Amino acid sequence: MSVTPEGYGRPVLKRIIVLGAGAVGSYYGALLSRKNDVLLVGRRPHIEAINSRGLILSGEVEGVFKVRGATEISEVPDGSLLLLTTKAHDSERAVASIRDRLGEGVVILVLQNGLGNEEVVRRVVGERAEVIRGLVTSGIEFREPGRIFVRKVGETILGRGGREEEIARIFNECGLETRLSEDMPREIWRKLVMNCVINPLTALLRVPDNEVAADSLRDLRRRIVEECVAVARAEGVNLDMGILEELEGVIPSYRNFSSMCQDIMRGKRTEIDFLNGKVVELGRRHGIETPVNEAMVSLIRFLEGRR
Ligand SMILES: NC(=O)c1ccc[n+]([C@@H]2O[C@H](COP(=O)([O-])OP(=O)(O)OC[C@H]3O[C@@H](n4cnc5c(N)ncnc54)[C@H](OP(=O)(O)O)[C@@H]3O)[C@@H](O)[C@H]2O)c1
Repeated sequence: MSVTPEGYGRPVLKRIIVLGAGAVGSYYGALLSRKNDVLLVGRRPHIEAINSRGLILSGEVEGVFKVRGATEISEVPDGSLLLLTTKAHDSERAVASIRDRLGEGVVILVLQNGLGNEEVVRRVVGERAEVIRGLVTSGIEFREPGRIFVRKVGETILGRGGREEEIARIFNECGLETRLSEDMPREIWRKLVMNCVINPLTALLRVPDNEVAADSLRDLRRRIVEECVAVARAEGVNLDMGILEELEGVIPSYRNFSSMCQDIMRGKRTEIDFLNGKVVELGRRHGIETPVNEAMVSLIRFLEGRR
């Protein structure tokens, strides 16, 4: 990538660091390594496997990618694009570990599910980096150290206005189809509503996503969505119950196990606080009752407590 200045005198992004190389981070890092200098930062067994055998992708994208890996970084060089792909609850600690190592002109792209994720990162880094949000619609699974399974290739969604155009160009050049949205808050809520229905139900019932399309769960799905839509609208987001129809149309085609279901089955912490938990929290702020989402949070916390 070139290092010459572009528009507004800002340097172009010239190096990519993935912080939290699990399923999503490894997938993005692998594809971006086609044309960029990429460093994956993750846990030791995965990084050792990548450094010795390469990163192996199978499924809808196949190949062995020679990407560099590390378990920690001593600096985030000037002009780096840092993809934050830890789970939402790990953001604060992960970003705090690099806060004092951030060079000039670093952009942090938060590629996670949930609501309020970028605010957490902004609180940690302050003015030291530009923080923007992206949405992942692919379905990626971590199989074993060094091996990632690409179940479904989807687009990446970014907003407009900052470095997003440049990032979209970098992603598209590497085969990561990326769309710039005019209404990012709506996109974030749309994804959130899908996650608020699919994730806790699949985790509680321990079934793949398509099974929560069962008729017996129709009323429950509708009530979760109604509460989310009421809170979204109180937040000024342009969302309506059309999202329920959309959801009912797509769930039967999803054959994977949601990340929350996988987390519960592996005895790991889930992202419930950033999903249904955020709907409950914001509902309280607006005086909107969210009993069904509250029940989802309590039930998932119960399961987490048995770890
Ligand atoms: N997978 C998907 O298909 C998908 C699709 C859309 C959105 N998302 C979202 O994308 C985000 C990432 O999901 P994922 O499925 O990729 O999760 P993941 O496989 O658990 O990957 C996150 C990785 O980050 C590691 N990590 C945590 N803190 C770290 C630190 N300080 N330094 C280095 N590594 C660290 C984790 O290690 P430990 O596990 O040891 O903590 C884990 O290996 C989530 O918000 C998820 O909801 C995922």
